[in-house]
Amino acid sequence: MSKHSKKSMNVDIATAKIGFIGAGRMTESLLNGFVNYGKIEASRLHVAAPTTKNLERLKQQYSGLHITKRNLDIFAKYGCNIVFIAVHGSVIRNCYKQGGERPFPLTTNFIPNMKKPLFILSLVTGFTLKEISQCLLNPEHPEKYLIEMHRIVVNCAVAYGLGICAVDVEPDSKKIAEPIRGLLSKVAKLEFVPESQMDAACAVCGAGLAFSYYFIAAMSDGATKMGLSRDMATKFAAKTVQSAAQSLLESGKNPTELRDDVCSPAGPAIYGIHVLDKADCASGVAAAVEAAHKRAAELAKEGEK
Ligand SMILES: NC(=O)c1ccc[n+]([C@@H]2O[C@H](COP(=O)([O-])OP(=O)(O)OC[C@H]3O[C@@H](n4cnc5c(N)ncnc54)[C@H](OP(=O)(O)O)[C@@H]3O)[C@@H](O)[C@H]2O)c1
Repeated sequence: MSKHSKKSMNVDIATAKIGFIGAGRMTESLLNGFVNYGKIEASRLHVAAPTTKNLERLKQQYSGLHITKRNLDIFAKYGCNIVFIAVHGSVIRNCYKQGGERPFPLTTNFIPNMKKPLFILSLVTGFTLKEISQCLLNPEHPEKYLIEMHRIVVNCAVAYGLGICAVDVEPDSKKIAEPIRGLLSKVAKLEFVPESQMDAACAVCGAGLAFSYYFIAAMSDGATKMGLSRDMATKFAAKTVQSAAQSLLESGKNPTELRDDVCSPAGPAIYGIHVLDKADCASGVAAAVEAAHKRAAELAKEGEK
């Protein structure tokens, strides 16, 4: 977390203007969650991206949504109070490549001193808040801003109000500003981790969602092979994973303990587990998380996507 001013950070979540730099998958997931599950009017949402490729589609989908091709509009013209930075690390890297002694601003000009509180939430994997803020704020007048910045990790399940969101606050949830807690809680369960662990959290929560779908699809294949209809097989696989996750979180037990509880001696489950072990499934999954973490770091270093 980084604070550029100690003055009051009061923002009314019921009227706050919310902005997004970037119109890709993460922005779309958040928009869907905020509008359809958080009941936030689309007219309070503002999105910037360099082309109309995604913007026009989003505008059609969310009536009243404001779109712009200029990042600066999010801060200046629209005066958003809460802004998500949802671009790839390569975009930030390019700011550093193009800049001289200091990075080229992501917003063409540094964002204006708005004389009102502004929360910036960065989803950018592989970049620290300091690096992001150097692409936004005029370094000559940092005292003029009333800004609080966080790195956050959200997964695409925010689109259904079921996301997980890690915020870079030490494990003391009281340190998160109320407007941010209020907004993110509409679409996700919040967890708090130090900034240094955000990239690892992103690998498990972000990419891990894809791995979970992969596992569900594989279980569904097995059940379909055994004769269940595809729809029923997928539903049972998904609900089984859901109940496994919920019972794990509610019981506070560790997953190995719960797995052992399910496996009766000489029963079907332990026979199946043995097959998974022989296929090196556990180390494959751990390696997938590690590969996602490594790839995110590579993307952050590349100048172009
Ligand atoms: N935190 C997590 O759990 C998590 C999970 C996945 C991803 N991420 C991170 O979230 C970020 C966005 O990912 P994504 O999947 O949404 O990406 P994406 O679908 O590829 O979308 C990227 C968006 O950035 C826009 N863009 C490109 N250059 C820009 C610029 N100079 N200024 C403003 N916008 C620009 C693109 O514009 P056009 O529409 O014109 O192409 C596009 O809308 C990435 O950093 C990714 O690593 C985080």
